[in-house]
Amino acid sequence: MRNRVTELTGAEYPILLGPMRFISLGAVAASVSGSGGFGQIAGSGLNADRLRREIRLARELTGAPFGVNIPVYRDNAFEALEVAIEEGVRMITTSAGDPNKLIKRIREAGLKVFHKCSTVSMARKAQDAGVDGVIASGAEAGGHVSREQITTFALIPQLVDVLEIPVVAAGGIGDGRGLLAAFALGAEGVEMGTRFLATTEAPVPEGYKRRIVSADCDGTTIIREKAMPARILRNQAATAIEQMERRKTPGEQINAYTDTFYCHEDPDKAIMPAGQVAGLVRSIANISEVIGATIREAGLRLTVINNFFAEET
Ligand SMILES: Cc1cc2nc3c(=O)[nH]c(=O)nc-3n(C[C@H](O)[C@H](O)[C@H](O)COP(=O)(O)O)c2cc1C
Repeated sequence: MRNRVTELTGAEYPILLGPMRFISLGAVAASVSGSGGFGQIAGSGLNADRLRREIRLARELTGAPFGVNIPVYRDNAFEALEVAIEEGVRMITTSAGDPNKLIKRIREAGLKVFHKCSTVSMARKAQDAGVDGVIASGAEAGGHVSREQITTFALIPQLVDVLEIPVVAAGGIGDGRGLLAAFALGAEGVEMGTRFLATTEAPVPEGYKRRIVSADCDGTTIIREKAMPARILRNQAATAIEQMERRKTPGEQINAYTDTFYCHEDPDKAIMPAGQVAGLVRSIANISEVIGATIREAGLRLTVINNFFAEET
């Protein structure tokens, strides 16, 4: 299984672990990479020492390659990049900001880089900046979503039509059907966040995982809509936030909830980012099972589709 995404990441399968603040840490990234996917350590919220420890932990747990995600707008973005370089990480993903800020140093150090985008214009700018690929994040995704709220299904083919670099689809993908659909649209890889939250390895409270498993397709909502929108599970906390936000200006919304509280043990009080694909997730599984099942299911569905079109011609 080789394409530009597996070549660039060095992973066996074109399945990326979505970087998730305080969740996609060394152990989870190592589990994904050790299962053939591409683990990413979320640099968000980590100081230099903690990031270094998480990289070293991942390296102890797996010999497979993994990456580090750096939110560009954060003050410590340069410091995080230096730590990743010093620790021998070969691939960076950047998000939330202009990749131009870091690209020179990334290139100098010989690293590969994908940038997370949510519109065609953002992706064009990233390509012009010299990134190796884009991670296209649709409005279905868990966590931060763009104000434009373009869906994955609409975004991927529009990007593929205008870009020369490979596209990884993020948002709304939770099984082999999603992987195959993303490939049908022209993506060369997928990034999954929500599906990996409902795994035995994810370091989040059990109540969070169970709420994903029991969520319906309309089980999420978007908060901070006027400022930095984020998709989270509907619960008492989400309803309280929505009521409060009706009275806030965009500036006030930005300053509220900059920290996520998904570590709260009570799933009614916790703010739990998750994507619309939560409605599809019906079990808490091991990471290796999720990756194995995704690849197997994509292959089986592809055979069915091939047979259908073979009959037509
Ligand atoms: C709990 C949570 C935290 C996230 N934190 C980050 C982050 O720190 N940086 C980032 O680029 N994306 C972040 N994301 C987005 C994911 O990396 C991924 O792109 C997204 O979850 C994919 O959509 P899905 O949830 O439908 O699978 C987060 C998502 C979730 C659910």
